[in-house]
Amino acid sequence: MAGIVESVSELIVSVFFDENLPKINELLIVQNDQKTELIVDHIDQNGLVYGLNIRNDLTISRGQKVKRSKKFPDIPVGEQIIGRVLGPFGDPLDGLEPISDQVKRDNIIKLPTKNTEFVPKKTEILETGIKVIDFFTPFVKGRKIGIIGGAGVGKTVLTMELINNVAKIDKGLAMFCGMGERIREGHELWETLKDNDLLKNTSMFFAQTNENPIQRSLIGMAAATAAEYFRDELSRDILFFADNMYRYVQAKNELSSILNQVPNEGGYGSTLFSDIKILEDRLSSNDNGSITSVQTIYIPADDITDPAVQLIQNEMDSVIVLSRKVAEQGIRPAVDLNLTTSSLLTPEVVGERHYLLSIEVSSLLKKYQSLKNIVAIIGENELSPKDRSDFQKALKLINNFRHNMNVMTKLTGVKGDYFTREQTLKSIEEILI
Ligand SMILES: Nc1ncnc2c1ncn2[C@@H]1O[C@H](COP(=O)(O)OP(=O)(O)O)[C@@H](O)[C@H]1O
Ligand SMILES: [Mg+2]
Repeated sequence: MAGIVESVSELIVSVFFDENLPKINELLIVQNDQKTELIVDHIDQNGLVYGLNIRNDLTISRGQKVKRSKKFPDIPVGEQIIGRVLGPFGDPLDGLEPISDQVKRDNIIKLPTKNTEFVPKKTEILETGIKVIDFFTPFVKGRKIGIIGGAGVGKTVLTMELINNVAKIDKGLAMFCGMGERIREGHELWETLKDNDLLKNTSMFFAQTNENPIQRSLIGMAAATAAEYFRDELSRDILFFADNMYRYVQAKNELSSILNQVPNEGGYGSTLFSDIKILEDRLSSNDNGSITSVQTIYIPADDITDPAVQLIQNEMDSVIVLSRKVAEQGIRPAVDLNLTTSSLLTPEVVGERHYLLSIEVSSLLKKYQSLKNIVAIIGENELSPKDRSDFQKALKLINNFRHNMNVMTKLTGVKGDYFTREQTLKSIEEILI
């Protein structure tokens, strides 16, 4: 028996079924010319089914018939999506041919198969060529790096540089998930990858700011599904880049306000925190293969204490904090060296030499913070010789962590840098002598 559309409001369509209720997340097909698909969001206590109007179709109207599909939203997975740009349901956004119906598909909404006992057999550090990252937040295979900061501090540019540098060297597969950011940035990334012949090793998923919150909230899951398939079925190592994870939070929030759900404390929807956890757990490594992720996290109103930001941050092994203050001093990347942290800066992971250097550097940078205030008042000449020398060393260190981006060369004309990890450590040792 078919259901009947009862009401349509914005992106929510309620459907009455007098028997044979659909499942949560099942796709329903409205029997109009468009054969519009809805995703079942929830069913209320009267048995009324609430569907999400995923393509924002305005031709749905009261009284139209609705059929169950007994299918769930899915995307094509496997080799055929390499080199392609897809939306949350696998529709091509690159203007190329649709992906064949014969290609295997997999559901995008699912729970993680995370094995919490999993310990990687060996630690493998991927070189990024960016001193400040290789030194403070080592890029370890299978782990997560967060890049956090307010608007315009350089999160996207740094992410692009990482894709450019790491995807070139690592034999893994790079995946990029554009979540609710500017449309233009998707084109720029595509161009950059093309210029560097990296498209053959990359899959991209996009639901940018112009898409409705249903699509924006599903894009991360679609990309995670593709990554899980490569990891589990094809035993591949994946580099997963997401820009911007906070847009997932916003999309979910927009949806819960459209659905009239009562927010809990902090103003967030009640399932938001478990939704974030589920997505993060899906992006993990296991015995089949690894997912190494870089996730940008926008901070609303530059407020680092936002509960959703904190939650995402807690899922990361390393957090690079980009700051407006640093950017204003003309330092790029605008990394706040005192707030940037990594649980991977241990002798076991980075080796004794790097570890000891990191301790020395962080104590010098802390000292610099307090000396800076004194210098501002009484001048550098009044410092003791030891303090003056430490102050100078800290200044040299800060300068040493500047990096000209390869991905900005086209715009700025300045050649990009690349430093091996050995060069990075050596440059720091030379300053500390
Ligand atoms: N490393 C950099 N070198 C030069 N310019 C940069 C760099 N990082 C950011 N910018 C400038 O700042 C702008 C905003 O950076 P973007 O990465 O888009 O910020 P976010 O993603 O944090 O909002 C860029 O368009 C660029 O002009
Ligand atoms: Mg950005």
